[in-house]
Amino acid sequence: MIVPRRLSKIFTQSTRTFTIVNRIQEKISSFLSSEVIEKPKPPKLIDIIGTLKNINYRYDYPQNLTKEQKEHMKRFDVFRYDPMSSADPPHFVSYYIDLDECGPMFLDALIKIKDEIDSTLTFRRSCREGICGSCSMNIDGRHNLACIAAIPKNNLEKSFIAPLTSMNVLRDLVVDMSNFYNQYKVIQPHLKRKTLKQPNEKEYHQSIEERAKIDGLYECVLCLSCSSSCPSYWWHSNEYLGPAILQQAFRWVIDSRDEYKEERLEMLGGDMKLDECFQVGVCSLACPKGLDPRKSTEELQALYKEYERKKARGERTIQI
Ligand code: SF4
Ligand code: FES
Repeated sequence: MIVPRRLSKIFTQSTRTFTIVNRIQEKISSFLSSEVIEKPKPPKLIDIIGTLKNINYRYDYPQNLTKEQKEHMKRFDVFRYDPMSSADPPHFVSYYIDLDECGPMFLDALIKIKDEIDSTLTFRRSCREGICGSCSMNIDGRHNLACIAAIPKNNLEKSFIAPLTSMNVLRDLVVDMSNFYNQYKVIQPHLKRKTLKQPNEKEYHQSIEERAKIDGLYECVLCLSCSSSCPSYWWHSNEYLGPAILQQAFRWVIDSRDEYKEERLEMLGGDMKLDECFQVGVCSLACPKGLDPRKSTEELQALYKEYERKKARGERTIQI
């Protein structure tokens, strides 16, 4: 029998609809007969310990060394982490170096590892003289500049190299300094004048005594070792300026050539600036340049109090 075309189409569509409805019914009945899904349970302590075992673990980099060869070399445990790779949790990799074939500083060891053993190791460095501040990291538990930190000669003691504490790691030993540099901008770290130079004036002069006031301040290399050691900075690093920046603020406030002292002090008042320093002093212990940011902040706090007193009396000028 020849079925008319239109009738055949209607028949095919009805058959398809019937099949779909049948499948939906099957799904619903299988869902209703399935077990009730339980809420996920909180992890047990044993699970947490298991997870931690996979973080901060250590392994020897494959250098094809025998046990005897390793005994004559120094072991460097270096922190490795790539936050962009979920398959690469934070861990330590041990590299062995013959100190007779390496320069005397930790930066020499890192450069030797990168050049000769593992080119994927990432760290910052520039001057190799302790003046650019870019190679700051934690070495054997202390913040330091790798280029001026001498390697202990005892082969039996391993050394440990990690990024600055409390900082976000971009890769291996490189931390994110953007927040720190933004905070540095806030204090306007440059000479500011209200009076312009006379036509025949070339420099802004200072007496020997005035110049001596910025000794112990201008040497700061902005390595962040002090701020990243400061408990107040750990808790409020987004808001609190921290010892490195406050020391630089002090440097410009007491520079005899600068004419914006009151404005600078006005800007420094408040919770997350001067008031957040409780004079703990770890910053000064951490400074690899031997500076004393705790004392600078203390002196800046005293200047600010004097400024506030004078402001309350209607006097706007402070003598430094
Ligand atoms: S005060 Fe010292 S530790 Fe702090 S940033 Fe300057 S050089 Fe580095
Ligand atoms: S490389 Fe410049 S301070 Fe270390």
